[in-house]
Amino acid sequence: MIELKDISVVFSQKNRQITAVTDVDLTIEKGDVYGIVGYSGAGKSTLVRVINLLQRPTTGNVIVDGVEFTTLKPKELREKRKNIGMIFQHFNLMDSRTIFENVDFSLKYSGKKKVERKKKVEELLELVGLADKINAYPSQLSGGQKQRVAIARALANDPEILLCDEATSALDPKTTLQILALLKELNKKLGLTIVLITHEMQVVKEICNKVAVMEDGRVIEHGDSVQIFSQPKEHLTKDFIRTATHVDQALETILGHKKFSQIGDDEWLAELSYVGEQTGQPIIAELFSQYDVVTNILYGNVEIIQEVPLGSLVVTFKGTIENRQRALAFLESQEVNVTIIKESAQGGK
Ligand SMILES: Nc1ncnc2c1ncn2[C@@H]1O[C@H](COP(=O)(O)OP(=O)(O)O)[C@@H](O)[C@H]1O
Ligand SMILES: [Mg+2]
Repeated sequence: MIELKDISVVFSQKNRQITAVTDVDLTIEKGDVYGIVGYSGAGKSTLVRVINLLQRPTTGNVIVDGVEFTTLKPKELREKRKNIGMIFQHFNLMDSRTIFENVDFSLKYSGKKKVERKKKVEELLELVGLADKINAYPSQLSGGQKQRVAIARALANDPEILLCDEATSALDPKTTLQILALLKELNKKLGLTIVLITHEMQVVKEICNKVAVMEDGRVIEHGDSVQIFSQPKEHLTKDFIRTATHVDQALETILGHKKFSQIGDDEWLAELSYVGEQTGQPIIAELFSQYDVVTNILYGNVEIIQEVPLGSLVVTFKGTIENRQRALAFLESQEVNVTIIKESAQGGK
């Protein structure tokens, strides 16, 4: 559906050049909810604006639905752009116009008659759950409701693609989840392809089936969400995931607490992670029955990414060093990933 080939974007300012995007290749398929995650300044907004050519790439090709965008004439491009809706962090609504007028504005060049337009606006507002706000003004709406209006407006010309640039970054966590649920619903119901830019892995976790991680203008890692979440390769990706799953926060609490952070000579503090149906419970029971290793669970978490459970546990293992090593080998044979966070100063016996 969307192919970005070897995209670079260089901004020339008076006496220097800023490279915002470097050599990006990305393929987004029909029906994907594709997350692009990275810290501020990574080049995400620039890259997403390249998709509808709001930003012309310095080099590279943009192919949407089989059409090379960079060689289109202005009029053809305007027509093709109707197939791509866009929403932003700050909603960009017109404050002096009603919700009806805000959405209707997008239909200005649709060639539809006034009655048809009215019907379409009503349908769109129904779709985003705001039918009762049709005559309200933006100032009378909450942030979440404003973003719903922006979504209705973006969908006015029945686009197949929706670009979302930090669309939930100005919203509280609960409202964020509601907007993400709406996007997911639109993806399913309309077959809408969604490209979602965010600095929060949490957002990716909720709805994206694929994800690309950007750093300094480059895509450093990309793939299926389950694969990226369960086996991140790059340091930055790991950072993002650990923040989203609160494992780092848990470890910080544990290590900062005397009672938990003091590890006996016969103990390890370890982090376990696993993918799929198995839960920690039977395995940990086995550590005791088979290897005489006592496990104390300090933290546990399960994330469901695209219907696949990903578990994390922070535990202490207590037992002789031989038994702990055998237990470790057993865990690894069960495809539980084990990282020893801390062992006693003596190294343990
Ligand atoms: N129009 C512009 N002119 C000059 N530099 C820009 C322009 N737009 C973005 N940049 C620079 O490009 C880099 C990437 O910006 P951006 O795409 O907005 O990143 P992100 O959305 O990931 O925060 C930044 O260093 C930013 O300052
Ligand atoms: Mg941005």
